[in-house]
Amino acid sequence: MDAHIETRIDIIRQHLIDPEICIRCNTCEETCPIDAITHDGVNYVVNAEVCNGCMACVPPCPTGAIDNWRNVVRSEAYSVDDQFGWEALPAQNEEVDAPVEVPAQNEEAPVASDTVRGSTVAPWSAARPYVQLYTHKAPALATVVGNYRLTDAAAPSDIRHIVLDFGALPFPVLEGQSIGILPPGTSADGRAHHVRQYSIASPRDGERPGYNNLSLTVKRVQREDSNGSGNGVCSNYLCDLQKGDVVTVIGPFGNTFLMPNHPDSHLLMICTGTGSAPMRAMTEYRRRRRATGETGKLMLFFGARTRGELPYFGPLMNLPKDFIDTNLAFSRTPGEAKRYVQDAMRERADDVAQLLGDGNTHVYVCGLRGMEDGVMQALESIARSHGLDWPALWEQLRREGRLHLETY
Ligand code: A2P
Repeated sequence: MDAHIETRIDIIRQHLIDPEICIRCNTCEETCPIDAITHDGVNYVVNAEVCNGCMACVPPCPTGAIDNWRNVVRSEAYSVDDQFGWEALPAQNEEVDAPVEVPAQNEEAPVASDTVRGSTVAPWSAARPYVQLYTHKAPALATVVGNYRLTDAAAPSDIRHIVLDFGALPFPVLEGQSIGILPPGTSADGRAHHVRQYSIASPRDGERPGYNNLSLTVKRVQREDSNGSGNGVCSNYLCDLQKGDVVTVIGPFGNTFLMPNHPDSHLLMICTGTGSAPMRAMTEYRRRRRATGETGKLMLFFGARTRGELPYFGPLMNLPKDFIDTNLAFSRTPGEAKRYVQDAMRERADDVAQLLGDGNTHVYVCGLRGMEDGVMQALESIARSHGLDWPALWEQLRREGRLHLETY
């Protein structure tokens, strides 16, 4: 064999994740059809021995951290352990030639639409989002202007509504987008805490209309990782913030989980706990525009352990019944049977089916990872029992940017 060609075959285009940009949302690991992506308490990494370059993980990544590649000699590919130790991507070794062509491994790889359950495109009428205006290297600073407990004082969960103001700094957002918060300090190994992602709970025109502010829905996490570094660091930091404190923010992120602007579009929203943040943002946006004669329907399924643990319970109950069709599901109310959002959806099957059959309907699911299967099964059984061709409908919803899933 020609020596020149042999050298080139030994070079691979290694898929890597940028730890400086990654917001640890787990989307890539969930999406990868062959389990090539994994994580520790700090980094998400790609196993070069497993990755086949299928690209399924690339479109769903909200930050673009996933779309990084280095040409490396195959035998010197960065190991998973190498990548766990990184704080930044290594530079491209210029002595390693680019492969003549992308390795044949891409052939016959599954395409994203075969592996991703939800849409990887935004609704056609969604506004165009700004993404990544602020980064680790050049973050934004926001001032805390409010921090209110949303759950009952007696409830075990401490869920808070935190309002951040950007002053004169441009920070344009849309409902459904998220931001990253950089908590101060370092973990046990001396490395800076990594960024945490939070969905925005307020509409594009501000938590307070006309103000350059936004809100987050944050649940205080009380457990600790085994290495002492992880879970709860950022949520406790945020939940303890006082008015006037300054927070370091990156983002915004997200260009698919967005609401349609078309006034006749219907929103079918299904959430648990803090997954209510984007639903509140979308609902509040529509509420503010109600007087403009929008005809689209809003139907909400919202699950929590008990009434006292349901964030935004009071404001939600005050919304007019002809504006939003609200269905609550409580799983731990003493003396009552456990009820999940998917149970409530089945109880309202006729109305859910009617919405599903309407080409103006957009479906949003946000909350606990475990709910995703249950909700998808409920959608399927409701569709089938009402004579809808579920595989075709599912594919259509996905293709048209009308099925958005964000679970964690
Ligand atoms: P559960 O009582 O079984 O934990 P959390 O308070 O932990 O954020 O949860 C919000 C709600 O989501 C709770 O009512 C919780 O019920 C419920 N939940 C838990 N697992 C699922 C699931 N697989 N599908 C739907 N809801 C779920």
